[in-house]
Amino acid sequence: MVNVADLRRAARRRLPPVIFDYIDGGAEGETTLAANERAFADVTFRPRQCVAACDADLRTAVLGTTLALPFLLAPVGFCRMFWPLGESVAAREANRAGTAYILSTFSGTRLEDVRAATAGPLWYQLYVPGGRAVAEAVIARARAAGYTVLVVTIDTPISGLRERDIRRGAGPLLKGDLAGSLPHLWQLATHPRWLIDYLRDGAPRVFPNVELPGVGAMPCGDTSILLAQTNVTWKDLTWIRAAWGGPIVVKGVHTADVARQAADAGADAVVVSNHGGRQLDGVAASLRVLPEVVAAVGDRIEVLMDGGIRRGADIVKARSLGARAVLIGRAYAWALGAAGGTGVARAIDILTTDLQRTLRLLGCAAFNDVDGSYVDVPRDFPTGPRC
Ligand SMILES: Cc1cc2nc3c(=O)[nH]c(=O)nc-3n(C[C@H](O)[C@H](O)[C@H](O)COP(=O)(O)O)c2cc1C
Repeated sequence: MVNVADLRRAARRRLPPVIFDYIDGGAEGETTLAANERAFADVTFRPRQCVAACDADLRTAVLGTTLALPFLLAPVGFCRMFWPLGESVAAREANRAGTAYILSTFSGTRLEDVRAATAGPLWYQLYVPGGRAVAEAVIARARAAGYTVLVVTIDTPISGLRERDIRRGAGPLLKGDLAGSLPHLWQLATHPRWLIDYLRDGAPRVFPNVELPGVGAMPCGDTSILLAQTNVTWKDLTWIRAAWGGPIVVKGVHTADVARQAADAGADAVVVSNHGGRQLDGVAASLRVLPEVVAAVGDRIEVLMDGGIRRGADIVKARSLGARAVLIGRAYAWALGAAGGTGVARAIDILTTDLQRTLRLLGCAAFNDVDGSYVDVPRDFPTGPRC
């Protein structure tokens, strides 16, 4: 496994197509998904040669916590479908490497159990299915369990159209609709290694952190139904802030205006993100809108970004355009699906070694020293504020 693309290929071999495509796919024509990756190639490096070389310092402070690495593990739903106890497994590897893990609302594992699995920094990502009372209950649990940052995702007023999920039968399979599942069952049977692991893990099909009154733990059901109930407005951020009482990150910002609104609403940081191209297809690559957001709010709050990061060099480019740190999604989700904790550790290791090598080749001693002087951006690349 030399690079993240190798881990992706290994995930494709182990996972049934419905799971692999859930991780791999994007919305509609997958234009934004492709643009996220391509944008990094458009930015080119300007190295400084003949400078003293030593191991680069990769430490980065994010919301007051110093992380050993400038990338965090993004919230990714349904991780137990990729690997037994997937959330705990990934969180443990994040901690071993010295970075934070962000637990998705659509986790198959109780947030307290993920906490018990690792001593490292944990953040909780909030959707609000079931409404305010349900969200307040999970916020209280996350706070009591020692999660330190709340990530509020704002780009899911409704689910994006994930065409691959429909073709693979994700809806009927998740709902346990036998008649609807029949044409899709072959893919489970032809991936026995995955199937045995999934059954041994108890075939989890609920989100235990979303306790619905009269129902109990929310059934996985169909993500399009789930996400239809998760619209968050700026007004909601007021009660979310009051209930949480700690640092809040708003995830899913694409424009300077929305970044300003997030800062005005009391966010401590934003993540420039298009959900990895899984929501509104046709929005620009995250890297392209990053400079606009940094120019708008970079002096008030912290700016993180995600989308398309497959190599350490991508993380350096994000930093050069103003990101304090980045989140990785598929890079570790594929790895988890390929080989569990061993895979996640390998993904983190690949990106860390990439970062070291890239900074050495750039002639830069510390990740935090990277700025715009280390890159060239093409003429059509937005670099400043856009109002
Ligand atoms: C399989 C998968 C599930 C995801 N689930 C969530 C989620 O539950 N909550 C959320 O805020 N973002 C979710 N995301 C988006 C990621 O947090 C992140 O924004 C995105 O993966 C970054 O792009 P990348 O995959 O190209 O690194 C998910 C992404 C993937 C690939």
